[in-house]
Amino acid sequence: MRRYHVTTFGCQMNAHDSERIKGLLEELGLGEAPSQEEADVLVFNTCTIREKPDTRLAAHLARAAAQKRQRPDTVIAVGGCYAEAQRERLFSLYPEVDVAFGPGTIAHLGEWLGAGGFGVPRGRFGTGDERRFAATLPTHRERPFQAWVQISMGCNSTCAYCIVPRVRGREVSRRPGDVLAEITRLADEGVREVTLLGQNVNSWGRDLLPEIRTDFGELLRAVDAIDGIERIRFTSPHPKDFRRPVIEAMAECDAVCEHAHLPLQSGSTRILKAMRRTYSRERYLRLVEEMRAAIPDLALTTDLIVGFPGETEDDFRETLEVVEEVGFDGAFTFVYSPRAGTEAAAMPDQVPDEVKRDRIERLVEVVQRVAAERNAQRVGRVEQVLVEGPSRTDPTLLRGRTRRNTTVNFTGDAAPGELVDVLIERSTSTTLGGSQVAVAVA
Ligand code: SAH
Ligand code: SF4
Ligand code: F3S
Repeated sequence: MRRYHVTTFGCQMNAHDSERIKGLLEELGLGEAPSQEEADVLVFNTCTIREKPDTRLAAHLARAAAQKRQRPDTVIAVGGCYAEAQRERLFSLYPEVDVAFGPGTIAHLGEWLGAGGFGVPRGRFGTGDERRFAATLPTHRERPFQAWVQISMGCNSTCAYCIVPRVRGREVSRRPGDVLAEITRLADEGVREVTLLGQNVNSWGRDLLPEIRTDFGELLRAVDAIDGIERIRFTSPHPKDFRRPVIEAMAECDAVCEHAHLPLQSGSTRILKAMRRTYSRERYLRLVEEMRAAIPDLALTTDLIVGFPGETEDDFRETLEVVEEVGFDGAFTFVYSPRAGTEAAAMPDQVPDEVKRDRIERLVEVVQRVAAERNAQRVGRVEQVLVEGPSRTDPTLLRGRTRRNTTVNFTGDAAPGELVDVLIERSTSTTLGGSQVAVAVA
């Protein structure tokens, strides 16, 4: 049997897409190889959100090229956002690549690879008729009790730094019936936790035909009503579209977890404006207040960028202030990375590298201190944990996540997929530790 290996870069949407790529390849009769070295078909599902994933891909492809020189029948396929950004240019940059395709045309992978024979038309960028939801393809899920569920593709925002709208196209909402049918099927298969995925989940539904037009709050309620789904997560919402009905649905639906990943990007209203985020520091803070008032014990995480063009020391300090003021439970922190073709890449006043490096270090320090304080407040409480497997650092412990999405390493005897109560006894800035007290009654 020929074997494939998929390497994934980037966000949850890419992780979702990779599961569909695997599902498709398995339908073509391939098996999964435990490592790249043992595979005949190497797929790289790429990201191009910052320069770093581009460079990481180059290193991976160098290794793949060496493997192909030894075994010339190896097939190298590059999909995802970087492939879409480069298109035909990819083949001159990386002549060892056989097939390249963007995130909207995964469904055609089978045609390009040719069932069993791999008669690939080398060096052509794969184009399909039109973008299709990867969600309609067969899948190979990592865990039997958790699933990603795609609710939209593309993005209609115009954030000045971001390449996603260019590579993933305009936003299209998946029909509510299709989303709910998939989740009902997943629940029947034993899935207990779903994560709804879209670049901006809160604008979901607005582009649907008038007969089925609805909103994200309604979707949360409909998913909550599906038997067997005990945890609902979603990522990412855009603060500009986080409205009252969604907050109410979060507060009222038992299965919707007490966590929101609410990307702030910057604490300076001036920079937010230049970024075209369309909210101010004050509006973001009001939203946080409103959410916390409605959802007790809500965990908030965020994305932050330092060194956006024109960011002054004062602007940066405002970001530090908002991190303290909100008290984020965690944050992904990024150094601004100019992306060819985006508005911000052409802006004057690009911030020098050493200033960006200094700011990211200071930001990480504050983020970690605040998150450590937030986690320390959990000590002494009992949290419901969905067991995912053994701890990554100590295999005698179990690992899982709380409803607030914090990783917990704990002593206990539960199996992956079980919901258990854990007494929290220790904390760091990113994890909790404790011991299982009982099997939670769901
Ligand atoms: N659609 C999602 C995720 C976008 S990408 C959302 O809007 O929340 C994830 C994060 O990467 C963004 O929130 C942003 O913080 C960061 N990011 C995007 N483009 C970037 C760039 N050019 N440089 C640095 N960070 C960037
Ligand atoms: Fe990028 Fe902004 Fe769309 Fe998120 S909302 S994907 S940051 S353009
Ligand atoms: Fe990267 Fe594409 Fe996701 S650029 S962050 S993989 S949408």
